[in-house]
Amino acid sequence: MSAFDPVLSADTVDQILHLYATRGDDHYGEDVSQREHAEQCAYHARIDGADDALIIAALLHDIGHLLHKFGEDAADRGIDTRHERIGSGWLARCLPPSVSEPIALHVAAKRYLATINPSYLKGLSAASLQSFLLQGGLMDAEEMTAFLAHPAHQAALDLRRYDELGKIVGADMPAFDSYAPMIRALIMKDAR
Ligand SMILES: [Fe+2]
Repeated sequence: MSAFDPVLSADTVDQILHLYATRGDDHYGEDVSQREHAEQCAYHARIDGADDALIIAALLHDIGHLLHKFGEDAADRGIDTRHERIGSGWLARCLPPSVSEPIALHVAAKRYLATINPSYLKGLSAASLQSFLLQGGLMDAEEMTAFLAHPAHQAALDLRRYDELGKIVGADMPAFDSYAPMIRALIMKDAR
């Protein structure tokens, strides 16, 4: 990435750890916290054999919820925070597109899956259904074509699977901070 800045990048890893240390207990919208959801999604990516970029995308896909200023109850107040754009844009400063793009597309992936598969839509949790409606609901044909044309769409669909699995109350998972070396390695790889 041409805009790579080692100071910004080192800061970013620290900022990510700090964000989840200080705001990771925020309510995710199910009965798990943001930190628990992140850890579980990354775990499911790992056991699925995903590459490091997709594991970190799974870990950080909802970081936008920790960065926006709308409050934890934004969805209850009818606000779509566009958290996927906030998060992916913030991370794209120093992580590769293989991390940021599936994150940018993970809401579109939910809308796509709900459009092509009514049972997926029925299976959405209450919080996920609430945000789905705020995020635009079912896709039209043009939106589906645009989604499928994106090179990261398959990674976003995989991420979505991990997302749905990461909502188990009380699951014992590797700690969030244990992923710090993997995040750093992705940043350094990007710098070469
Ligand atoms: Fe999620």
